[in-house]
Formats: sequence, C-alpha cells, structure tokens
Amino acid sequence: MASLLGKSGGSVGGVEVRSIQNVPRPVLICRESETSQLSNALEHALIGNGRAIALVGEVGIGKTQLLSYVKSEAVSRNATVISATCSSLPGSPPLWPWREVFSNLNSEHDLESTDTPLDISSIQSSAADAEQNLELFANIVSSLREASSTNPLLICLDDLHWADSSSLDLISFAVSQLSSAAVSIVISLRAAETDSNPATRKMLNSLNRLEHFSRIEPQALSNTEVREMVETAINHTVSRDVVAEITRKSHGVPLFVEELARQIGSRGQKLASGLPSQIKEILDAHIDSLSDGAQLWLQTAAILGQSFRPSDVVEIISRSELASEDDRLLEDDLDFADRAMSAGILIASLSHAGQIEFTHPLFSEVSRARLGVGSSIKLHAAAAELLEETTDKTL
Ligand SMILES: Nc1ncnc2c1ncn2[C@@H]1O[C@H](COP(=O)(O)OP(=O)(O)O)[C@@H](O)[C@H]1O
Ligand SMILES: [Mg+2]
Repeated sequence: MASLLGKSGGSVGGVEVRSIQNVPRPVLICRESETSQLSNALEHALIGNGRAIALVGEVGIGKTQLLSYVKSEAVSRNATVISATCSSLPGSPPLWPWREVFSNLNSEHDLESTDTPLDISSIQSSAADAEQNLELFANIVSSLREASSTNPLLICLDDLHWADSSSLDLISFAVSQLSSAAVSIVISLRAAETDSNPATRKMLNSLNRLEHFSRIEPQALSNTEVREMVETAINHTVSRDVVAEITRKSHGVPLFVEELARQIGSRGQKLASGLPSQIKEILDAHIDSLSDGAQLWLQTAAILGQSFRPSDVVEIISRSELASEDDRLLEDDLDFADRAMSAGILIASLSHAGQIEFTHPLFSEVSRARLGVGSSIKLHAAAAELLEETTDKTL
C-alpha cells in the first residue's frame, strides 16, 4: 500500500503525531456513570464487538478528560491507542483528523505491506465523485479492520465540531462498518457548535440509528461535586460559602471550577473577587470570533439577563439611538443570533419558548462588562423604557 504519510508516522504538516504507549490515568472527580459506559464499550470492542461513543458537551465540561480516561484504560489492556485532535485554524485539508489517525497507524503497523491502495488525499469534494470517495472510505475501513486483527484499536477523535464534512462522513461510515471488529471509536464535540452545524447534526443522526453507538453528555457538577473537586485541587477543606460561590460562578463546569479554585485564599474561607484571567480569556476568545456588530448585539442582549427575546434586543437597539450612530448594527440582526449560536455563546432556550439564552452566565457577565459607558447608559435607558411598557401592558 502507498504510505500515507511515511512509515514512521513522524511529522504531519509540522505537527508531531505518534500513537500512544503510555497515558497517565487522569484525575477524575465523579463521572462514575460516564467512565463505566466508556469501560464497558472498550470491553466489548476488545473482544471484537466494535463500539462507538460520542462525548457531547460544552467547553470545559470534561470531554477531553474522559478521552484521557478511556485512552489510559485501553493502554492498560494493551490495545493500540490512536488519537487525533481537530483544530479551529482554517485551511485544514479534507480528512485532516483521519490523516493523523493513519500517520499513527503507519508507525504502529506495517500497513504498507497490504494490497489495498490508499491515498487519503484523493478525497473529492463534488457529489459526482461520491462513488470514488466511497471506495476510498471502504479501503480505509478495511485497513482499520486489518490493523485491529493484530491488536484491538481505540481511535479517539477530539473536538470534532471543527472537523471537515468528509471526516464526519467517514466516521459515520466507519462506525457503521466496524460493529464486528475489535475497534472502538470515541469522539468528542461541543454541544452548541454541534447543534448549529448541519454536518455534525447529520453525522450524529446517522450514528444514532446504530445499536452499537451511544452518546454521553457529561453534566455540570453539583454543589457537592464542586466541593470535592475544589478540595482535591487545593488539598484542604473550603467553607460552604466559597463552595456556593464557585458553583454559582462556574455553573458546575470543571474548567471554571478549576480556575476559580486557584483564587481561594490560603485558609479556604475566601474567594478573590473578579474572574480569573484564564476564564476571561476563554470567554473573550469566543466573543472575539464574532463580527463587531454581533458583539454589540450580544452586549445589548446581556443587559436583558441570562435569557431574552431576540425581538427585545432589536427594539432596545433601535430606541437607544445607537442604531443610527453605529453602522456596525446595520448588519441583519437575525444573523447576529445565529452567529452567536454557532460560536457556542447562545442557545435556544428549552424552558422559555421563543427565547434565546447564554450557554453560560459568565458569557452575559463578560459581554456586559465590555459595553462602553456611553453605550451602556443609552442601552440601559432603552431597556428600562421597554420593560416599563411591557409591564404596563400586562397589568
Ligand atoms: N471529572 C473531572 N475531575 C477533575 N478535573 C476535571 C474533570 N473534568 C474536567 N476536569 C478538568 O477541567 C478542565 C477542562 O476539562 P476538559 O476535559 O479539557 O474539557 P473539554 O474537553 O470538555 O473542553 C481540565 O483541566 C480538566 O483537567
Ligand atoms: Mg477538550
């Protein structure tokens, strides 16, 4: 077989990739149900009953941590672990994560000796080439099957919300074909980006139809779990008030809990005020990915709180005079909500029909803090006026 990226794996596009021989067991607070589902899937795959799992959840909820857990389990059972992470950088070639997978596999197995010609870069984009792509997919799957006959395989693909559509199609195809092979495939995706992207939705819909596929949605940590995580991190007890404050600020998201835990005073009685810079940077990076107009729209929405009606945002902007002063707001306003949803900042509210909400309360806090004083006064005045009118009407 034509080597995809060279027999030794080595470097792909400057990125060092290697199959994993030794993964330290990650620190995992709680997550008993998730880890037992992952271990169970692995057990089945090890004896030739292929399994696939999608870890779906918001940023920082612990998807990558769970992937580390399943990798360490697989290594301890002598399976071959292959891992690839998608990048948010634009311009990755089609099938990028799969190129990494094969680079790893090339270095583990002598795939060059197989008869199947495989040139992963030959993926075509037009629908007319679907037949040719199917043939390539079939060859890829047969290489995986062949590799797994020597040693069971665990393939972990992280951050697939950034994957190209061919990679996602190949996942659906590979999972559907490998139910009787010693292969487990565990993927992770961010929930909001997944819901707003037709390609990831299509992949999950097709996977959902398969009996050997399951979806795990790690949930936010409870108050008790936050306490456990904080006390483990700082290695001493913390007061009830501090735990309550961290739970409120973090919304139970482990990434934020971890960062807030660093702000606890030496005796565990007090939390420093303000947001840790790392949390702020993560939230800012999400917001910065939006256009200027969408950012101002979001800042206005944040005045209304955690959940709001998009029509109220439009109304406040038009009453505030900002619309005539600021041409950033001349873009189509419905688009703004769509873009913020695609960026994982907003989500359709499940509890309030017709409303949209921030995926995390910290997003509204940071957005509000970004408003300039002048705009803030005008927007607050317009919001108060609108609220008064709505209250009058309902009385
Ligand atoms: N169950 C957990 N126990 C302890 N730490 C955790 C847990 N889940 C996540 N973390 C920590 O929280 C941070 C974010 O987790 P990560 O897996 O990177 O989130 P995601 O991949 O969903 O964005 C990491 O530093 C990780 O170590
Ligand atoms: Mg991650």
